Amino acid sequence: MLNHHIAGIMKNVLVLDDEVDLAESVATSLQDNGYQTQYCTSVDEALKKMSLSQFDLIISDIKMPQKDGLEFFHIIKSDLKEKSTAFVLMTGHAEGISIQSAYDMGVDEFVSKPFDLEDLNLMVNLILKNNLKAYAGDDKFYKIGLTEFLLASVSDYDVYLKVNDNFLCLAKKGHELLPERLHNYYKKGMQHIYLSSSDFTRYIGMQVNLSEIVKIKPLDKVKKIKLFNHFSKTISESALNEFISDDLYGKVAGSFENYVQIALESTDLFVLINSLSNYDKDRSSKSVLVSFLALTVFQHWKWTHPKHLSKIAIAALLCDIGIESVCPTLNKRYIDMTPEEKTDYEKHPLKSYMQISRIRNIPEEILYVVLQHHENDAGLGFPQKLPKAKLHPYSRVVHTLYEFVDQVDQMSSRESVKNTLDKMLSFQKRLVSIQVLKTLYITFNIPVPEELISILLPTDTPRLI
Ligand SMILES: [Fe+2]
Repeated sequence: MLNHHIAGIMKNVLVLDDEVDLAESVATSLQDNGYQTQYCTSVDEALKKMSLSQFDLIISDIKMPQKDGLEFFHIIKSDLKEKSTAFVLMTGHAEGISIQSAYDMGVDEFVSKPFDLEDLNLMVNLILKNNLKAYAGDDKFYKIGLTEFLLASVSDYDVYLKVNDNFLCLAKKGHELLPERLHNYYKKGMQHIYLSSSDFTRYIGMQVNLSEIVKIKPLDKVKKIKLFNHFSKTISESALNEFISDDLYGKVAGSFENYVQIALESTDLFVLINSLSNYDKDRSSKSVLVSFLALTVFQHWKWTHPKHLSKIAIAALLCDIGIESVCPTLNKRYIDMTPEEKTDYEKHPLKSYMQISRIRNIPEEILYVVLQHHENDAGLGFPQKLPKAKLHPYSRVVHTLYEFVDQVDQMSSRESVKNTLDKMLSFQKRLVSIQVLKTLYITFNIPVPEELISILLPTDTPRLI
């Protein structure tokens, strides 16, 4: 309450319900939460109050004896053109309006009676963007794509949204969180939900268990890929923020063995890439994509032992986790960087390596890949300019794939993929693995260029690449 007095921006809320006790208790509870409130029991009374003061938010019942809540909403939005006044609709069950249609009409929030006053207060804080009772601890928050978040009807976690750099609670653990509500925030431009670190750890645990179920359940392939994609993103979010514990690594590696098997059951790479939802050029999406492409390359070469597959997938996923500590805000292509930016950026393989080598049981192949993923066949890469003979075969696969993903404009377009591969073949032949390039032509179902036809793949011959 204090903050609002000081700032002089105490927000005004009007509560309308024909049950006076309910109107009063909602108003009192909001007052205790630091809002200035008035309440009334009919639409006419509410309109009178609105002619005397300006309200930031109106909370209205839907079913009332004379004019009802929907009529009131239309009067406010259409006749009075109060576009900036937010509106929350309260409704009992079976009152002829669905949550979705309320949101579609432009209602900001929707609560079903009976509701918890605490939930309503959280809702109001979010709508009015007040950080009252915002999260006060010093815990770290971990983000999860809002549309990917695996949601039960009752939330297993305290779910937060980030508003003006504050973390505001959307739903408390054990309380209802409806998908329509979440989707409504997505439509308003919220891309992520956030969990505290203890909840995030439990969220990973849930995904680890889920990987066991997914393995034996006859799920649609696209759904499986989406789960794999989401799991990978969760892991890279966790790795970006702190090092992965030995215990967690053990569980994650096991789940990757489950997930990579199912990720490879499908045939058309374009279908799969399209199902990696929300693919954009942010760091973790890029890593997931490289990780996934590395799996398909290994699959094509028949290097398909689950342990190899999970190693290459995890290695590709974790290569860039050190970027955060050397250049957190940098988000451009290597060729567009200034010399200073390049110097910082070139330290990231070493940083990632240091972060990952703290995991006690980490396989050495993963360490090689992380350290060498920017080294190239011509000995001109960074950080060490290692000659080709010193590069681990897994590193060369991952290096070539990162180059490919960096350069391709549209992964879902066959033409764009073909142009990128052709370009790499013309200009980067000495830098990347030619076998990986050839494999990409084949797996993307693009005719292999003449000059690559005679190149043997590691599957055709026992020697490594
Ligand atoms: Fe990198």
